[in-house]
Amino acid sequence: MAEETQQPAEVTLTIDGETVTVPREMNLIQAAAKAGIEIPSFCFHHRLSVAGNCRICLVEIEKMPKNQIACSTRVAPGMVVKTRSEKAVKGRQGVMEFLLINHPLDCPICDKAGECILQSHSFHYGTGQSRFEGEKVHGDKQVDLGPHIVFDAERCIKCTRCIRFCDEVTHTHELGFFNRGDHSIIGTFPGRRLDNAYSGCTSDICPVGALTVKEFRFKQRVWFLKNTASICSGCARGCNVYLGIHQNRIWRIMPRESEAVNKSWICDEGRLSYERYQIAERLADARSGPMVGTAAGTARPLMPRAAWEEAAATLGEVARKHGGASIAAITSGHATLEEQAALAELMRTLGGTRTALPVHERGEDDGLLIRKDKTMNSRGALLIGGVNARLDEIVAAAAKGEIRALIVLREDPIGEGGEEAGAALGTLDLLLTLDWRVTPTVRASDLALPVCAYGELDGSAMNFEGRLQLLRPGLLPHGESDPAWRPLYEMVARLGGEPAPQSFRDAFRRSASRPGPLFGLDTPAVGTAGLDLANAKEP
Ligand code: SF4
Ligand code: SF4
Ligand code: FES
Repeated sequence: MAEETQQPAEVTLTIDGETVTVPREMNLIQAAAKAGIEIPSFCFHHRLSVAGNCRICLVEIEKMPKNQIACSTRVAPGMVVKTRSEKAVKGRQGVMEFLLINHPLDCPICDKAGECILQSHSFHYGTGQSRFEGEKVHGDKQVDLGPHIVFDAERCIKCTRCIRFCDEVTHTHELGFFNRGDHSIIGTFPGRRLDNAYSGCTSDICPVGALTVKEFRFKQRVWFLKNTASICSGCARGCNVYLGIHQNRIWRIMPRESEAVNKSWICDEGRLSYERYQIAERLADARSGPMVGTAAGTARPLMPRAAWEEAAATLGEVARKHGGASIAAITSGHATLEEQAALAELMRTLGGTRTALPVHERGEDDGLLIRKDKTMNSRGALLIGGVNARLDEIVAAAAKGEIRALIVLREDPIGEGGEEAGAALGTLDLLLTLDWRVTPTVRASDLALPVCAYGELDGSAMNFEGRLQLLRPGLLPHGESDPAWRPLYEMVARLGGEPAPQSFRDAFRRSASRPGPLFGLDTPAVGTAGLDLANAKEP
């Protein structure tokens, strides 16, 4: 029997004189990148199949008579590749000139300008000149492809990334190529719209400004945006994102590469989730802080310290008069781990016995990214928040007078529970709410403390798979808003507990000081990539 030949997992080749050893399934673009050498590309995308149609990745390979495209050439042992030889450089210059023949060169009014691969490759790999003297082929500059995407036919370089995305990632197949030659154009099939749940990703991967997101189009120049690496708060996936911020406002959310969580994608709902923070009525306007007496219609602002005093004193009094069991809490999957841990510690300090976690589910898990659990941190709440009751049990106990004080963190039991919940919670001695927006529960509260909204606070959250990740702030806190852990730990301190932490890192370490999978962790260990704690052992 013939002896089986085992292929080595890695191969060694030479690129621009550098010896590189890489996995044998890599192409030349990926191998060169490992050696710190850029081979330009338009149609190649590491998450999509290879199309090999833009030709900008031409390189010279020894023993081959013509330039080859690097994206569809696999590495081979002993291969000698030249990316800067005269032949390779001239080949790429020709491709650049060809790609720009019909391009409108309207960078000054193009949203992609500043992050456009065509612009950047033209600068680095083109000649800066065109010999074309005829009339360019013109196209429609504003084709409405779907609810979020507009297509500019003149800017399209026919790379097919968008088509492959809809075929290979979402499997929705809305897009195709129509016509031939320099009149070829992408578009939706008859009767179809580009309306899959991830349509915004086509704009991210379009190497030019041909596909733009309606909600961001013409709103900001990208070079003004400061990109903060954070996570999406839209569902339990916790996709890694960049918040594009300018003048204390989020203008867009873009995917951040994460092999473990969301690869290169985010859903449209998450992409546009910043809008809900901009339209909601905030609890604290720029002048006012915590509100007291909102239930009685006698709302008056308090200084934060006075509010913490008042809250701690009232809670202490209820606990003394009626016992700890008369105090309940509603924690939230929208809250960070530090906030959930602070509420749990306050409950332990008061001897409170019931904590509920409302469920926010909508739709179904879609098998790609979207989760039906629309909170970012329910798993964290179950791990650290002391959850031991259902929301309806707490409402029923309040209606019977068994509960006299309720602390509500980033939830709206009255808005969601209707009249019955409103009537039950209206009888409490103290309804204390911590929220960023004005809700029916805030309106019914005896004391409402403003807390930071998404984008305004540091925090950690655990996604549904048990991955611990960090949220980062790029916005200033609104008015007197704080991360909720601050007022909660201040109340703990006023009730005789440990002093409140003064920084996010201290608050994180305090959450990690109790036995459990977080035990002994610190924020640098989590980093921007997150930490898989799904199988972490209890110490
Ligand atoms: S619209 Fe963009 S992604 Fe789609 S083929 Fe044209 S250039 Fe490529
Ligand atoms: S899948 Fe979930 S976490 Fe990811 S972008 Fe969408 S809403 Fe956000
Ligand atoms: S990147 Fe190789 S042909 Fe387009």
